[in-house]
Amino acid sequence: MSETASPDPELFDKIVNLSKRRGFVFQSAEIYGGFRSTYDYGPLGVLLLRNVKDAWWRSMVQERHDVVGLDASILSPPQVWQASGHLANFSDPLVDCTNCNARHRLDKLDDPNVCPTCGSEGTFTEAREFNLMFKTHAGPVTETAAEVYLRPETAQGMFINFANVLNTSRKRPPFGIAQIGKSFRNEITPGNFVFRTREFEQMEMEFFVPPAESQEWYEYWCQTRMDWYLDLGMDPAKIKLRAHDDDELSHYSSGTSDVEYLFPWGWDELEGIANRGDFDLTQHATHSGEKLDFFDQANNERYVPHVIEPAAGATRTAMAFLMDAYDEEVVNDDTRAVLRLDHRLAPYKIAVLPLSKKDTLTPTAMEVFDSLKRRWMVDYDETQSIGKRYARQDEVGTPYCVTVDFDTLDDRAVTVRERDTREQDRVSLDQLEGYLAERLS
Ligand code: GAP
Repeated sequence: MSETASPDPELFDKIVNLSKRRGFVFQSAEIYGGFRSTYDYGPLGVLLLRNVKDAWWRSMVQERHDVVGLDASILSPPQVWQASGHLANFSDPLVDCTNCNARHRLDKLDDPNVCPTCGSEGTFTEAREFNLMFKTHAGPVTETAAEVYLRPETAQGMFINFANVLNTSRKRPPFGIAQIGKSFRNEITPGNFVFRTREFEQMEMEFFVPPAESQEWYEYWCQTRMDWYLDLGMDPAKIKLRAHDDDELSHYSSGTSDVEYLFPWGWDELEGIANRGDFDLTQHATHSGEKLDFFDQANNERYVPHVIEPAAGATRTAMAFLMDAYDEEVVNDDTRAVLRLDHRLAPYKIAVLPLSKKDTLTPTAMEVFDSLKRRWMVDYDETQSIGKRYARQDEVGTPYCVTVDFDTLDDRAVTVRERDTREQDRVSLDQLEGYLAERLS
């Protein structure tokens, strides 16, 4: 990590503005005044988020022989959360300020005696433990027997399906089960845009290993997960792995490290990698009465696998990549905003831009669009000056702009402009797909 990296508080507003102006993220229910701390992903945001999740799935599932996927239900019965410990322990200490009525998480206050909203001292109530799970009812009867919970993490879906996967997939420890999906937490202090929200997406993997191998696999996954962010272009000066101190560890964890990113407000968590021991499988085996262990025929021994869990936030990570990619440079006295996103994460890979909105150019431009759309996510835009359209594509991170001009009609060639260098090449239409494939692979 570079010594010189420091947070850039101004970046925060720039990203929030860009997100709204260009259609990455909108405030949820905005036309009704907005639903606080809840967000909708717009046309560009949904592509970025999908690309982040695809990149994770590719590296965690597709490119591995020892990890399989899962998509478990969001609604789950109380027994799951009783066994996991969430009903008893998944809570934050909540304090109310008797002066201004603001609510805060005690463990997140700089000074536990001073209210950061009104500045008054000694006005907090006694801390109360506030459970973060959302409860609802299954079916028409709102009685206690019908209570169910929205999952606060995707992880438990993997633990309760351990035996199902073991019996059907022919995988043996060491092996993993991966899942991407929505989770819900009734956070006391959501905030920092999409960093902490009540509804968010996680990308989690539970890796089941022989107990003697757990430390080795823990170190392997810490390194592998760091490499994933770096491979996707994250600035090495703004990402680090921080091992938890002993007093931060859950009672069942023998090691946890956070991948932290230098957000505009300082270092904060992107992902946690934990050595969870046999806690989860043992808890579910005890509560369900089912056997959740593994018989190793080669060594003639039965054991409860230990679990290494890399748990990342998809929505949080997408925002971190957006912040990391944002750049401004002065070109001919103008400031150009450019998202230097890795090609794999860029919402659109290519924009097809007919030089003018003339009937003469449209058929050829549409022909180019049609020839590329099968392979890539391609934008098509024919209004405004070409300079403005380039600027627009730079700002949303599109790696290549393909301009169809009047010469195209004669020479069957187009101008391809690269986002970061602004360099342009003239490429014949019959070579265009190969030219782009070479650069976007
Ligand atoms: N199964 C372990 C687990 O859920 P966690 O640290 O509570 O661990 C994992 O969550 C990741 O999920 C976090 O590192 C973060 O990226 C994301 N996450 C957690 N709570 C979030 C929230 N309220 N809003 C957005 N992302 C959140």
